[in-house]
Amino acid sequence: MAYKRTLVTSALPYANGPIHLGHLAGAYMPADFYVRYQRLKGRDIVYVCGSDEYGVAIVIRAMQEGVKPQDIIDRYHPLIKESFAKVGMSFDHYSRTTSPVHADTSQDFFRRLAARDDFVLRREEQLFDPKAGVFLADRFVCGTCPKCSFEEAFGDQCEQCGTSLNPADILNPRSTLTDAVPEHRQTTHWYLPLGRWQPALEQYVASHPEWKPNVLGQIGSWFADGLRDRAITRDVPWGIPVPAESAEAAGVDATGKVIYVWFDAPIGYISATREWAEKLGTPERWEIYWKDDETRLIHFIGKDNIVFHTLMFPAMLMAYDEYVVPDSVPANEFLTIEGRKLSTSRGWAVWLHEYLDEFEPDLLRYVLGTTFPETKDADFSWNEFQTRVNSELADILGNFVNRALTFAEREFDGAVPELTDPSAEDRAALETLAGFPDRIARSYERFRFREAVAETMNLARLGNKYFNDTAPWKTRKSDRIACGNTVHVSLQICAGLSVLMEPVLPFTAARLRAMLRLTGVRPSTPGPSDSSAVGWDEAGSSLLTAGHALGRREILFSKISNQMIQKQVTRLESAGQEAELPYAELKKTIQYDDFARLDLRTGHVLSAERITKSRKLLRLRVDIGSETRQILAGVAEHFEPCTLVGCRVVVVANLAPRKMMGLESQGMLLMAEDRAGQLALVTADSESGAVVR
Ligand code: 2FM
Ligand code: ZN
Repeated sequence: MAYKRTLVTSALPYANGPIHLGHLAGAYMPADFYVRYQRLKGRDIVYVCGSDEYGVAIVIRAMQEGVKPQDIIDRYHPLIKESFAKVGMSFDHYSRTTSPVHADTSQDFFRRLAARDDFVLRREEQLFDPKAGVFLADRFVCGTCPKCSFEEAFGDQCEQCGTSLNPADILNPRSTLTDAVPEHRQTTHWYLPLGRWQPALEQYVASHPEWKPNVLGQIGSWFADGLRDRAITRDVPWGIPVPAESAEAAGVDATGKVIYVWFDAPIGYISATREWAEKLGTPERWEIYWKDDETRLIHFIGKDNIVFHTLMFPAMLMAYDEYVVPDSVPANEFLTIEGRKLSTSRGWAVWLHEYLDEFEPDLLRYVLGTTFPETKDADFSWNEFQTRVNSELADILGNFVNRALTFAEREFDGAVPELTDPSAEDRAALETLAGFPDRIARSYERFRFREAVAETMNLARLGNKYFNDTAPWKTRKSDRIACGNTVHVSLQICAGLSVLMEPVLPFTAARLRAMLRLTGVRPSTPGPSDSSAVGWDEAGSSLLTAGHALGRREILFSKISNQMIQKQVTRLESAGQEAELPYAELKKTIQYDDFARLDLRTGHVLSAERITKSRKLLRLRVDIGSETRQILAGVAEHFEPCTLVGCRVVVVANLAPRKMMGLESQGMLLMAEDRAGQLALVTADSESGAVVR
């Protein structure tokens, strides 16, 4: 369907810490590229975001520091907002969920769904911390994961195996507030019966076969398990209060009950749009972006937010029955740093505000743009950052612009020379330039940002090649017309680039336009769009007229030294070491008999393969001497299957078989996990079937 307008959102970041490169590469930078591109196309588009300021994670952070949640968010919201602005995030509005408009929008949503019987109420036992005197929701509980036995799983999710959990699922639960063993107490909560929406959601998702496979894969497994009711209120001292009239109508004492953060956060997109419209002095205008069928709603998110944006929020929107539903949810995978999983608690992260103290924003925009984790996890490394800046931005793009402008300055008095009787090469270069806006646009339209960045750089490559082929340093004496043509065409390519590189390199694009004295280009930032301005579609035509006087030439990109990179690597490593986790505590003493119940055997891996639809599991065939076992091991993110084949391993041979992803696992491999979460095989150099004891 042809849409009239687009509303773009990026996941609201929790205001309990600064932004790091993982955030940026996931939900933010790709969205900004997209929105800037659309603005240059002259399309009606609004881009909103804001800080996510409720939720248990923020309360815990405050408790750890002995301050109030408000202190935490008042520290991080401005820091996040400022670093986003410095890196060029071009939101139409950046809000925060503690704003009064948001409380109002969320409560309105709640009231309407409650009044329409879209919730169910449940009275049930929940975990209660007798020392702190509070119910233990979400991350207030930790303990052993029922799926993978990880001992530090949280009440809402196991960070080891990714399973989403309820506090009651946790084995050996402890309170993260006081370490107390929780008691069971009765409490009442509102639930969103997602199961009721499953048929409608299945139909909705089926109408989007174009969604990315990573998104469809996750949704598919949720559908297969059957959607369950989700509690959307909490007994937590921080959040938007459950509306009194809804509580009264239900006969529930709502004292201390707040709306669950994952219910209010996506509504934050609506609140932010309302605030945006108010800011413009047209308070009603938000409605067409949410309630008119000709609006296209797009949510940029990281992969950990997929179910909320493709199932829970759409169900809420359907239930409200006035809003459009998301048309696209381009979710990215994760970014690793120097080959290791990013971990803020372990200090393994590159913080945006720290980056910006040292380097230009555009360098990061470009380098991240070449490595966005669009289809699988991707890595950021400082060495690659240096290589991309030096050998692509400086040596290709910067060098081309510099050559064209230097020639214009020295040979043609700093003005654009005439194009006279263009040669076949001149014409071919101009034709190729003319095809670039559509070529790059195709990638942006399909959310293929890495490809868009590569195509943009290809235009600079074309420029360099053309410049080399026509060799103006030879023709400057022998053939002034040919030399002028080369400079003319090269300057047109520079002008085209100054528009087409704008989504990726907005600060540099503006500098380049100043050097060319190219004016009248449509901005890629929010604001009214002038339809007569030069935009994306014009960027392939000759934007500079002969005789036009150019501005002052500058170097676009300086090279980054080894020393500067070494400083960053050292900073990362020392932060990583400082925050290094202690070794796991030793477990309680057991008797020999406890150990002897385990039947450990040496084995030999015969084959290893990935399992479709599972990111974590590998299917192994292991010869344990007496027989061959099929073992499903959660190691796919650590080992390439082929590297395991032929390895000697130790197998727990008498572990009860278990079904996973429809396959039976007949045992378990022993692995050593270091403090950074890296896995290594435990091996034994003996024949298969030998008893380990
Ligand atoms: O995962 C997160 O960081 C959440 N704060 C994202 C919220 S997205 C939206 F729904 F607001
Ligand atoms: Zn787990």
